[in-house]
Amino acid sequence: MNLTIIGSGYVGLTTGTCFAEMGHHVICVDNNTEKIRTLQSGAIPIYEPKLEELVKKNVAVGRLEFSPSIAASIAESEVIFIAVPTPPNTDGSVDLTYIEKVAREIAQALQPEMGYKVIVDKSTVPVKTGEKVSQTIKHYAGPNVQFDIVSNPEFLREGCAVDDLLHPDRIVIGANSEQAMNVIKRVYQPIHAPILETDVNSAELIKHAANSFLALKISYINAVAKVCEKTGADVELVAEGIGMDKRISRHFLNAGLGYGGSCFPKDVKAFINISRTLGIPFTLLEEVEHINDTQHIHFLDRIRDRLWVLKDKKIAVWGLAFKQNTDDVRESIALKLCEKLCGEGAIVTATDPKAMHTAAPILNPMGVKLVEDMYECARDAEVLVIATEWSEYANADLQKLAGVMRNRIIFDGRNILSPANLRAVGFEYHSVGRPSVEEA
Ligand code: UDX
Repeated sequence: MNLTIIGSGYVGLTTGTCFAEMGHHVICVDNNTEKIRTLQSGAIPIYEPKLEELVKKNVAVGRLEFSPSIAASIAESEVIFIAVPTPPNTDGSVDLTYIEKVAREIAQALQPEMGYKVIVDKSTVPVKTGEKVSQTIKHYAGPNVQFDIVSNPEFLREGCAVDDLLHPDRIVIGANSEQAMNVIKRVYQPIHAPILETDVNSAELIKHAANSFLALKISYINAVAKVCEKTGADVELVAEGIGMDKRISRHFLNAGLGYGGSCFPKDVKAFINISRTLGIPFTLLEEVEHINDTQHIHFLDRIRDRLWVLKDKKIAVWGLAFKQNTDDVRESIALKLCEKLCGEGAIVTATDPKAMHTAAPILNPMGVKLVEDMYECARDAEVLVIATEWSEYANADLQKLAGVMRNRIIFDGRNILSPANLRAVGFEYHSVGRPSVEEA
């Protein structure tokens, strides 16, 4: 099938590339001509495992193209996906100006002789946005254009986007006409995954409800972790014990510094705002957000309790990305931690396997020293803080680390190291919701 993806950011580029890999002909469009030139030259602007090779392969066989023009692309496409950003406004509501602008541009490009088009919203949007997009297109398009609006939310995780797209748990298609539903089912025909067919409003709601529920699981286990810390229990065992119940599951019960990234913080906020606007405040989610906002502050309090005064103390931070396997630092808790450490006068050095270039513009002005090598980063540090769950850190050479640090003290904000291993090397070790290993 011929598909257009409007918006070549994270979701648009990965989705478009995977559609091409599935055998479709895909044009990825973006109004940022610089980005389009970069993509046309064979480079990709983000780090995502497996993506670059798939882009190159599909460009080479002519299934994937990049274009700055919506009008030219949709003329030859049966399905048009909208994958533009929906950032938060300061009051937590969703900024839909990019969606509205794209709807107008599509309307102006649509012509009756192009035939029936299905316009699919992939961006995360508040429930009832599809209705607004439909009204906008009808308002700005000429007479006799034929189209339907579909909601097809994307559940990919950064760092494993390609696998999530090619092997999803489920595909949600929200359509209000059988014709549109059948077209989108054809798009996904090469993928073996259950399809849930819904109306447009339900599909839109599924995305916000799913992300908020996952965020809720994380805040829940983080709240349990605090109880563990006060009582000497081990949150890893507690998570295992509750996760063995299939109704709960062990996934997304990893205690740590809390969730970051471009989705959870924004989507929880948006769902709170949507519910409030509907006159049914979702106070449970307000608590989820509060637990997440205060989780790293509680961690910082524990570091301060240990060092007494942070001013002039050298603290090394391993991990800047909001999670492993990405260079994305949006809403990264690691950066919030760096900011607070610097605010208290600590001398902060930091490192990350992939996110140094994205973190640098934020950290350089704070005076954080960025060091490529993780052991050099920890040299002479009084405390090492682990802020992102990279496997490099989980597999660190502890003897080597012990040799470079001034004090053998680790605060592991992601529970990736084993207390027993640290005890064996003589480290003092503090993590989240687990008994500490005290100085040998
Ligand atoms: C998330 C959803 O998982 C995905 O379905 C949706 O499409 C977009 O939002 P993503 O933001 O890429 O994906 O990352 P995810 O792996 O979900 O992690 C989000 C944050 O939660 C990270 O900061 C991670 O460190 C944290 N997290 C995750 C935990 O603290 N504990 C966990 O158990 C899981």
